[in-house]
Amino acid sequence: MAIKFNHLYANGILPSSRPKQVSRGKYDFAVAYPDPKSFPTDEIISSLKDAIKANPDYLAIYPPQQGNALLRDYISHKIDRDRSIKVNSDQIILGNGSGQSIDMICSVLLNAGDAVITDQYVYGGTLNTLRRHSAKIIGVKSDEYGMDPENLSHTISKLSQQGTPPKFLYLIPTFQNPQGWTLPLDRRQEILKVCNEFGVPILEDDCYFDNRYEGEPVTSIYDLDQENSVIYVGSFSKTIAPGMSVGYMTGPNEFLDRAMFVKSGRVSEFAAMAVYQYSVNYLDQHISEINEIQKNKRDAMLSALGENFGNKAKWSHPEGGLYIWVEFDDQVDITELHQNSVNDIDVGFHPGTNYSPDGIDGKHFIRLCYGFNQPDEIKEGISKLGDYLAKKGVI
Ligand SMILES: Cc1ncc(COP(=O)(O)O)c(C=O)c1O
Repeated sequence: MAIKFNHLYANGILPSSRPKQVSRGKYDFAVAYPDPKSFPTDEIISSLKDAIKANPDYLAIYPPQQGNALLRDYISHKIDRDRSIKVNSDQIILGNGSGQSIDMICSVLLNAGDAVITDQYVYGGTLNTLRRHSAKIIGVKSDEYGMDPENLSHTISKLSQQGTPPKFLYLIPTFQNPQGWTLPLDRRQEILKVCNEFGVPILEDDCYFDNRYEGEPVTSIYDLDQENSVIYVGSFSKTIAPGMSVGYMTGPNEFLDRAMFVKSGRVSEFAAMAVYQYSVNYLDQHISEINEIQKNKRDAMLSALGENFGNKAKWSHPEGGLYIWVEFDDQVDITELHQNSVNDIDVGFHPGTNYSPDGIDGKHFIRLCYGFNQPDEIKEGISKLGDYLAKKGVI
């Protein structure tokens, strides 16, 4: 007799539609990864071969739970050089992408119902992780420079008065996904000050810091912090490729001990060895090459938006990363058009609702990713989208 599972499921486990084969469209501004044509196939293969030859026994035994020591050492030097983050390799934990690190951080800090503060519009993967942990997600409004520290302070004190002070603030300070802005230094300092005053830790998601093609890097919040209050995550998904599935975290030692307690599964040693050897030999050069490519793509999208959307919409001008955030008149509801645009005009994009904590707010925004298509295709696709939106009365 078939077993019925209904009464066996753990609390809070909801049925979720398994991802269908989504039709992507020729002009795919929905995807969130860097130029697939730039994937360094030959160099990854030769790096993996070199790494295995140098340490064949690494694959013959179980890798350390914290992750490959050579790669952790490389990361500790890289984030010191690039972000002035001074930690040793023991203070780095590898994850299957930064997504696993974010999930571990939630496991360490959250009980069901705990409040977490995010931007009003923020990366949907983290929203889903927070939802899985039954967090109460509170979005704080930003302007074109990022999260407003006064709104943040007001939100934290309100939550504290209600008896549910936030467990942490989740921030993507550099090339925010989806809004594209980078928090200037003074905002970072003010946000940190507010959080320190209230004793709220910050989860700094810095997965785009390498993807800068204009302007000067801004100091990481981790570096600004004097109170041991920042947990920091990074990734190789936006520099090498998402398919490598290698990310990392660091933070206060006592926090990392607990993160190791909740860590389940290991990062594939195969992937870690390839990422390590590739990074040592090629990563810096590769980053400057892909940033040049991404800059051209961004420029193509910005100029196409100017030509086709005119003054009927506003959009961000990111200095790096992969996304442009477009705002239409606040009467617009883009959700239905979004569902039809791939079939109608072969153009994919994401609606703003994918990025709001309640999944409802954000109907008059869209996120456009310029990582996938080539500049000419980007121009064609934005022109098609402009005509389509004009026909539907959006612009
Ligand atoms: C802000 C942000 N954080 C984390 C991730 C997840 O990256 P990973 O592939 O390292 O899990 C993404 C992916 O798009 C992202 O945009």
